[in-house]
Amino acid sequence: MSKATPTNIEFELSEQDFLVSKTDKRGIITYCNEPFMKAAGGEEKDLLGKPHNVVRHPDMPKAVFKLFWDKIQDGNEIFAYVKNLRFDGGFYWVYANVTASFDEKGDIIGYYSVRRKVNPKGLDIIQPIYKKMLSIEKNSNINDSVRYLNDLLEEKGVSYEEFSNDLQRL
Ligand SMILES: Cc1cc2nc3c(=O)[nH]c(=O)nc-3n(C[C@H](O)[C@H](O)[C@H](O)COP(=O)(O)O)c2cc1C
Repeated sequence: MSKATPTNIEFELSEQDFLVSKTDKRGIITYCNEPFMKAAGGEEKDLLGKPHNVVRHPDMPKAVFKLFWDKIQDGNEIFAYVKNLRFDGGFYWVYANVTASFDEKGDIIGYYSVRRKVNPKGLDIIQPIYKKMLSIEKNSNINDSVRYLNDLLEEKGVSYEEFSNDLQRL
């Protein structure tokens, strides 16, 4: 299925929604729950066996996913604000927690993500930051975008996870 053209129509999650997906080590979706499918606006056949970037929204900076993969491949968990694309072109924001799953030898066998509704006050802060990062990526490169985010976090004296957690609690 080709990607939908983004519209400005938002799909709002309810406070009770927990959107769950699991992937293999490469980020291929191996499981998703009903609320996830509803938010994405697709069925199992549209999601299972597909790379997780099937819901990637063009408004998301590449640098966020770089940071994301660097962390989870090291076995660390991450919390992030993510804007996702629906199959009908609409979008939905999530506060995502992603963790690695390990086998008995301690090797990573896949990843697990649980997402909740974002705090609208947090969105007001993260949106201009992502916008700035996107423009840096367009006019310069991803390394400068990573640097911009890292400088900003350093100024605040927090990690990206702490920052996302703080935004969720505003
Ligand atoms: C468990 C797990 C959950 C993910 N969830 C999302 C998601 O909800 N939205 C998203 O855009 N990318 C998600 N990703 C990251 C994608 O694999 C991918 O890196 C990202 O969409 C960037 O795609 P691109 O490399 O084509 O730019 C997830 C990855 C994993 C391992």
